[in-house]
This record gives sequence, structure tokens and C-alpha cells, in this order.
Amino acid sequence: MKFSSHRAAALQPSLIREVAETAMGKADVIGLWFGEGRWPTSDIAVRAAQNALAKGDHFYQPNSGKPALRASLQNYMNRLYGLELDISAITVTGSGMQAMMLAAQALSDPGDKIVVVGPAWPNLAESFKIAGGDIHIVSLQAVNGRWHLDMDRLIDSLTPDTKAVLVNSPNNPTGWVMDKHDQLQLLSHCRKQGIWIISDDVYSRLYQFADAAPNMMSCGHPEDRIISVNSFSKAWSMTGWRLGWLAGPPELEPIFAQLTEYNMSCSSGFVQEAGKAMIEQGEGEVRQLQERLAQSYQLIKTRLQAIEDVKFIDPDGAFYSFFSIDGLSNSTGFCKALIQTAGVGLAPGLAFGTQAEGYVRLCYAQDTALLEQAFDRFEKGYKQAIKSSH
Ligand SMILES: Cc1ncc(COP(=O)(O)O)c(C=O)c1O
Repeated sequence: MKFSSHRAAALQPSLIREVAETAMGKADVIGLWFGEGRWPTSDIAVRAAQNALAKGDHFYQPNSGKPALRASLQNYMNRLYGLELDISAITVTGSGMQAMMLAAQALSDPGDKIVVVGPAWPNLAESFKIAGGDIHIVSLQAVNGRWHLDMDRLIDSLTPDTKAVLVNSPNNPTGWVMDKHDQLQLLSHCRKQGIWIISDDVYSRLYQFADAAPNMMSCGHPEDRIISVNSFSKAWSMTGWRLGWLAGPPELEPIFAQLTEYNMSCSSGFVQEAGKAMIEQGEGEVRQLQERLAQSYQLIKTRLQAIEDVKFIDPDGAFYSFFSIDGLSNSTGFCKALIQTAGVGLAPGLAFGTQAEGYVRLCYAQDTALLEQAFDRFEKGYKQAIKSSH
């Protein structure tokens, strides 16, 4: 008898983890592999969680989330993106990851065609694979030092048998951002074909040119087939708290609630209180993160552009640089070797799809002093790591 289900057996192990687990916890390695910063969560969240626990918030919560948090998120989205969402559009989830999984379970039947704009964080496509989806990737291309999406190719791939298209903007790993024009074109095509748009907005507030990146939901109406996946992890530095949310047409809310019941039966109440406090009082914290990231971005841009073998491609958002290096053909071998030769941990491009081999991802959500140190080490060790990876 086989040990696991075919779907479980077909999942790709995460190459980011594979590299990181060779050196996690080693004090002399600067790990820039995961998508999180070293800055702790604000006291605003910590105090709210502590107060909630002290007051006895120890019990099950409604599957769709606490009404007060849903109302805060409704106001936040309406204010930030100029929307007119009803509270029934909002479902609280136990992370952005879980939000994506609920979207996949809500929409995808076995064999459904799901188009993903790649390269993308691998968990997104894997969520739809678990739900039985048949994944088609449309790749961004590096053109003149910027990431570019060929809209004709994307539109051509969205045939009438497509169930959903998944767009993560600002994108992990490239930092690419879909502009309003392309969003409107995509929505207009998807409306005609009845295709769902899953918009992964977890990096929405981490955008170089404004307070939030162009938002897919603001292109349409509350009834449009658009689902926004969001998370407290990135903009509010709350990776370890596990809290996220979904916004979508109100008809989906009971379906999401039902699926939540059978996935985790609600998010923790005291964590939701922390999230609510951050949405209502944490704008200053988001601004502070945006300023820190702007400094780190300037540093990595200067340092990467100074390395002759590196092809730097300017990110418009998120907190990553995704770059290629001359002579690099085995990104996993390179990242493992770099730990030895430089004591620096990066994520291999291959983790984000076969089309991304030859690239590596660096998370720059770190203090500039640490990044300077990482680059000093990288410059000394990368050539040897390329040789070792052949
Ligand atoms: C594009 C993208 N979506 C969703 C997530 C999920 O974030 P979390 O599960 O921490 O809320 C991540 C985390 O790295 C991400 O990069």
C-alpha cells in the first residue's frame, strides 16, 4: 500500500528550506534566504495580545474572524484602495499562506487550469496543486534591467477553460509590480471569460513609488471575481503570529467560513486582537518599515551594481533582489557553496520555477550594517561558490 496520497507525494520540497536547513542557527552565517526581516513586531501588537490573554481571550472564535477585526480590515481596505467593500467581503485567516490555500480549495476542482504569473513564491502554485489544479506558468522576463510581463502572452494563455489566474504583485521573488493599465486589461479579459483573479497582495504596502501598489480590487466592483490574499506578516513584521485575510465577493464568505472550519476552525482570538491594534494604530510602524526598506534598497542596489558579474534588475516593490550572476547555472549548488565560501545565505532561483534557474534571491529587510557585511563577504566568496557548484 502506498504511504501517502498522490497529491502529497507530488508536492515539491522547498529548495529555500533545503539550503537554509544546512546552516540555520549557525552564528557565523548571515541568512538572507527567508522573506522576513530581523525587526521585531511592534509593542502595539504585543501589548494588545497580552491584554487580550489577560482578559481571558482563550476560546474559539467565529470562523470568518472577529467582527471587530473584519470591520477594521474593511475600513482599512476601503480607505487605502478607494473601495466600497461590505464587511461580508472580509474573512480572517491563520496566515497569508492559509488564505491562499482557502482560495485554492474554494475555487479549484481536480484538473482545473490555473495560470500563474511566475517566477513566484512556490507555495502559491503548490496550494492549487494540492487542490488538484493543473498549473500553467507565464513568465516575467528581464528586459533592459526591469522585470516585464508580456500581456499578450498572459491573455493568450487565459483560455475559456481556465479557472483562475494568480498574480502576486509586488512579486516575490522579483519585485515586479503590475501597473493599473495591465490590471484593467486583465480584468476586462477575465470578466468576459468568467475567470477568477487571485491577487496576492501581501507586499502591497512595500512599494517604492507610493504608499501602496496599484491594487487589482480597485479596478473592479465588489461582485467581480477577484480574491485578494493578504497577510500581517510583511508590512506589520508579524511573520510568527500567523494572521492574514481574504477579501472577495460576499458570496464566498460562507464558503471560506466552511473551509476554515475544516482546516483550522478559526484563528486565535488574541492574535486577532494584535492584528486589529496594528491596523488601527500601526500606520506609523508601516511607515517606519517603508523608510528602513528604502535605505536597505539603496544599499543593495549600489553594492550589486558594483559587482561586474551580477545582472541587477531593479525591483519596484517587496523586499527582495532577484539577480543572475555570470557563470551561474546551478543555483541550489551555488547557494549551498556560498554558505561555506562566504557565510552568506541566499535562496536559489530554482525554488521559484525552472525558468528562474541561474538566479538567486536576496531578502534585504535587514539593517544596512548587516547588509554591508554580507556584501563584503559575498564579494570575496561568490566566484569560488560558482566554481564549486559546477
Ligand atoms: C507572495 C507571498 N504570498 C503569501 C505569503 C504568505 O505569508 P504568511 O503565510 O506568512 O502570511 C508569502 C510569504 O512569504 C509570500 O511571499
